[in-house]
Amino acid sequence: MSKKRRIDEVLDEMPSELLVVLKRIGTYQPHVRLPPDWYQWQIAERHMILKHAKIASGANILEVGCGPQAISTIPLAFLVGEKGRVVALDRGRWGDFWKLVGKGGVKSRVIPLQDDARKLPFPYSCFDLTVCIHGIRSFESRKACVEAIEEMLRVSKERVFIAESSPITRNKAQKAHLMMYNLRRSVFLALNHPEAGDIPYFSQNDLVRIVKEAGATKVDAKLLEVNMPHHLAWFPPEMLDKIKDRARRENLRREYVKCEKRLDRYGEQHPPVITIDAWKKDQPENR
Ligand SMILES: C[S@@+](CC[C@H](N)C(=O)[O-])C[C@H]1O[C@@H](n2cnc3c(N)ncnc32)[C@H](O)[C@@H]1O
Repeated sequence: MSKKRRIDEVLDEMPSELLVVLKRIGTYQPHVRLPPDWYQWQIAERHMILKHAKIASGANILEVGCGPQAISTIPLAFLVGEKGRVVALDRGRWGDFWKLVGKGGVKSRVIPLQDDARKLPFPYSCFDLTVCIHGIRSFESRKACVEAIEEMLRVSKERVFIAESSPITRNKAQKAHLMMYNLRRSVFLALNHPEAGDIPYFSQNDLVRIVKEAGATKVDAKLLEVNMPHHLAWFPPEMLDKIKDRARRENLRREYVKCEKRLDRYGEQHPPVITIDAWKKDQPENR
């Protein structure tokens, strides 16, 4: 079993410019259950994953599903450098996005865009790379994933890069994460909100199949062991109060108590992450 890493060890391995960005942001704790260093851990994980995306300084990147906390946008903005750009797209969850990008001092490298990834507003392939980091889970269905990746391939010059957690658990802390994460979908369905996403993590084979269905001609997939804590499966129990069907509500409440106990007992660890490099068809107009 690999040794548990400490945040200071992980930060020590990070580039100094990214550490400056994190220092400017300081402690960010949007709710009390999150430990003070959770944001640093999450950024460290995204940075580790994004190193596999082979992003060149000066690149023009489209980030699909940037989310309300800019967790991948910040390391992306660092990787593209002064002369690069990150178009950060989300269909509507902005939360603290602009506050964090502003505090981090990387506003000039980021262009936020609100739209649906299944119908991107770009007429041709204008991005050096299109990425979706821990965003596949937030699409409302498998079909939506295929449609969004089809669009990502269309607007990329050559390649897209996708990273998503796998459903693999090698220890109790990963299992605790997965059980609470899977409960989210059941709650959204009970609330009649399938569009809220949090669909079950795909296996590596499934994800490869999805990317091929979307039209990729060549796909390279890897599984990365992260060995870092996770923090984001938990959700407030008050969400359950809104479920109208009593039996379903009580059933999910019992499940919730079990899952929360597991998180408290074992902690929450990041499952291994699948990374996908996918290349589009070689179209003459893209040459
Ligand atoms: C899990 S979140 C944030 C992931 C973030 N990249 C990270 O590294 O933590 C994924 C985001 O995808 C967005 N999303 C879901 N479906 C979408 C769609 N069809 N078009 C654009 N964004 C979408 C959600 O609004 C959500 O904010």
